[in-house]
Amino acid sequence: MSKPLRIGVLASGGGTNLQAIIDRCQDGSLSAEIVIVITNNPGVGALERAAKAGIQTLCINHRDFSRREEFDEALVKVLLDAEVELVALAGFMRIISQTFIDAFPGRVINVHPALLPAFPGLHVQQQAIDYGARFSGCTVHFVDGGVDTGPIIIQAVVPILPDDTADTLAARILEQEHKVYPRAIQLIAEGRVRVDGRQVTIEPACPPELTALVNPSIKG
Ligand code: GAR
Repeated sequence: MSKPLRIGVLASGGGTNLQAIIDRCQDGSLSAEIVIVITNNPGVGALERAAKAGIQTLCINHRDFSRREEFDEALVKVLLDAEVELVALAGFMRIISQTFIDAFPGRVINVHPALLPAFPGLHVQQQAIDYGARFSGCTVHFVDGGVDTGPIIIQAVVPILPDDTADTLAARILEQEHKVYPRAIQLIAEGRVRVDGRQVTIEPACPPELTALVNPSIKG
């Protein structure tokens, strides 16, 4: 059996995606090991979840740095020292600089709570509702120099319901994030993910679920 993929997770808040990755590592469905969890905010849930799982934690507070690059250099140093092979952003609310991406080329991934390329950035659940979109979802993608612009690995779709608030929609989307993020990491751990420009290919191929979703239903 090959060695587990060494992951560094960056988080800013509650860390439910981190927890999903921890759980899948623990139940053996993810051949990876989280070697370090770094947050940019002190006292957040992600730190507690990692500590409880016996994972090394560190808070590097971005407010202690005058320039984004200096903050990123500090992150990179710790991640390199920990011999991380993949960096997973899990609710990490800082834009990472080219300095960071250059240190881990093609090895930084993110989960975003919308169906990219629709609704990049922040407060995207409210934006999807305000726009009148019928569906939203989540996207796991490689991180490039832009904001939520990198090649897409996997997406999951959820309906937007008439009485949704940003919170109810966020909860519905999060449920899917917890499934697809560990799945994307497992595909990478298995060496099945190839990137060519914007195209991400899974080898051997993994067919999509061929179900059309319609909202509102055509049956009603
Ligand atoms: C998740 O919905 C994640 O997609 C989002 O923050 C939430 C973090 O939840 N990330 C972004 O918006 C990144 N721009 P969590 O801390 O419970 O995993």
